[in-house]
Amino acid sequence: MNQIETIDKIQKVIGIAKRARKSIGFIPTMGALHQGHLSLVKQSLLYNDITVVSIFINPTQFGPNEDYAQYPRTIDKDLFLLSQLNHVDYVFTPKPDSFYMEDPLKSTRIHIPKTSTYYCGQSRPHFFDGVCSIVLRLFNCILPTNAYFGEKDFQQLFLIQKMVHDLFLPIKIIKCPIVRDENGLAMSSRNLYLRSSQKKEASYIYKMLKYGQELYQAGNTDVSDVKAKMHQFLEKNTAIKLEYIVFVDESNLELVNVCTETTRVLVAAKVENTRLIDNVSLRNELN
Ligand code: PAJ
Repeated sequence: MNQIETIDKIQKVIGIAKRARKSIGFIPTMGALHQGHLSLVKQSLLYNDITVVSIFINPTQFGPNEDYAQYPRTIDKDLFLLSQLNHVDYVFTPKPDSFYMEDPLKSTRIHIPKTSTYYCGQSRPHFFDGVCSIVLRLFNCILPTNAYFGEKDFQQLFLIQKMVHDLFLPIKIIKCPIVRDENGLAMSSRNLYLRSSQKKEASYIYKMLKYGQELYQAGNTDVSDVKAKMHQFLEKNTAIKLEYIVFVDESNLELVNVCTETTRVLVAAKVENTRLIDNVSLRNELN
């Protein structure tokens, strides 16, 4: 496994791989790796000649009052975890200012109208512009055949797919299922902020989603009723503050009033100061 820190160097090795007609699997991350990230890497290892993982805490997707400074930085452990897999070719770890040498506000920016302003985009208006802008830059460095994203960040995955579609990028986006801990809590780098009692409490987000899924599978298709019952369930069991809970159609992320086989329930919630997101499909008992 080779660690590469500069854009020049990664473009050089990618150029060689491309000329040799190798397929390239790419997994962009912000580090503090856990089994959720590693599940994406394992998928890439199965289906590509070369696998590249990037670790870059992207400043432009954090708002001024968010956790950029505190975001967990565990690079030695990350490199160790990746080195245990068989066999990651390159870990791309650009320096903090590699992509934004001048004021990021003056740099080229990707904005996807509407969908990037809903749901997570409402409380984090800068977020998806920051994500899409860095992911496009990374795509242009790595030129992946396949890029792997987790369903955990469902709106992010949707917007990346849309960007690839709208800009005719010759990249296949592979979506990977959510990996959870033993209590059902979706794995996340931000779970490192939680004490163990808070982790237990946070697992009620998933329990609430499962409850909604059960109600649907028992025949309740009325979104406002299912939503109200889920809300009550969470309130009864925890002090978690919901930021939003929305029922959307998976194909376009638009709100629905009636639950169907293509409905996804997306949630953002706060356990004290830690903001967590999660989602389930109503049809699928496995997620
Ligand atoms: P990060 O939060 O590090 O996540 C990197 C990738 O891992 C994303 O595609 C995310 O959906 C996936 N992932 C995280 N937790 C997961 C879980 N429990 N199960 C399955 N997949 C999981 O998402 C980002 O970084 C950034 O926004 C990034 C795309 C790298 C741009 O900066």
